[in-house]
Amino acid sequence: MAAASMRDDLIVIEKAPAKINLALHVTGQRSDGYHLLDMLVTFTRHGDRLEFMPAKMDEFVMSGRFAGALGDSLDDNLVLKAREFLREAITREGGSAPAVRIHLQKTLPIAAGIGGGSADAAATLRGLLRLWNVPLPWVTIEAIALRLGADVPMCLASRPLIAHGIGEQITPIDDMPAFAMVLANPLKGVSTPEVFRGLTNKTNPPLDVNPRSAWLDTLGSTRNDLEPVARGLLPEIAEISAMLNDQGASFVRMSGSGATCYGIFDTLTAAEEAATALRSERPDWYFEATETTVGGRDAGTR
Ligand code: C5P
Repeated sequence: MAAASMRDDLIVIEKAPAKINLALHVTGQRSDGYHLLDMLVTFTRHGDRLEFMPAKMDEFVMSGRFAGALGDSLDDNLVLKAREFLREAITREGGSAPAVRIHLQKTLPIAAGIGGGSADAAATLRGLLRLWNVPLPWVTIEAIALRLGADVPMCLASRPLIAHGIGEQITPIDDMPAFAMVLANPLKGVSTPEVFRGLTNKTNPPLDVNPRSAWLDTLGSTRNDLEPVARGLLPEIAEISAMLNDQGASFVRMSGSGATCYGIFDTLTAAEEAATALRSERPDWYFEATETTVGGRDAGTR
């Protein structure tokens, strides 16, 4: 493998968009305990932001509203794990992966069902591959992503998609429209393993998203099978869903294992007005108006 050529003045910027489960059907369970899922997923313009630049020694700094929520322990930090796994793979292939400064701007709430940590890990893989300029085979990158977490391969794609398996079998969707939405979270975390453990039925009907002509109608016939369990664990989920409905959202659902819920609105202006009203009702909670992206990802700038 050719040595990495890294310009000293280079700053690579990657967005880490929030992942929205438009639908999540639990269809079975693997022998290792992981659940088989059918997911309809899209991503928002709103998300974390990461900067990567050459440094004398590895550095990691965090800023943003939810940086403090990540705590001081960096042992489980997915950004650092992504850097470590990628560096291992590059070194194994004879390439070089020099020291880097990573700045994570954490604007997404953590343990929130919108894949913040997974998006950060995926953005780290994308960003470091650009910074280090290393041609790793795509299958190797995908394997690293899956090792980092079941949602990381989807976040690597960061575009509308259907996922099967535990999230690693991905089919892109080209005709999904952009949805204006409000993300709403009571800022209480829900434990993903606990939600999965609470499932009483693990063999629900699979996802059927045909015909796709009227996406909002189609969503009505889909589910998030984790939502009833999460509602049982955290009563605020029902409360925040009702608040989104009261603001006139045309569709309200929980994402992932919660607690973030989203309400779809006709226009971004309507979503922004709803978010403003919701913030004044509950200033201590998280409400963000945003839009989902369509087609290829809109995640990187240099
Ligand atoms: O892969 P990740 O670390 O994001 O998963 C967190 C936990 O969620 C797993 O340890 C498992 O308990 C549960 N999970 C699952 N089935 C999936 C994804 C996650 O049971 N498809």
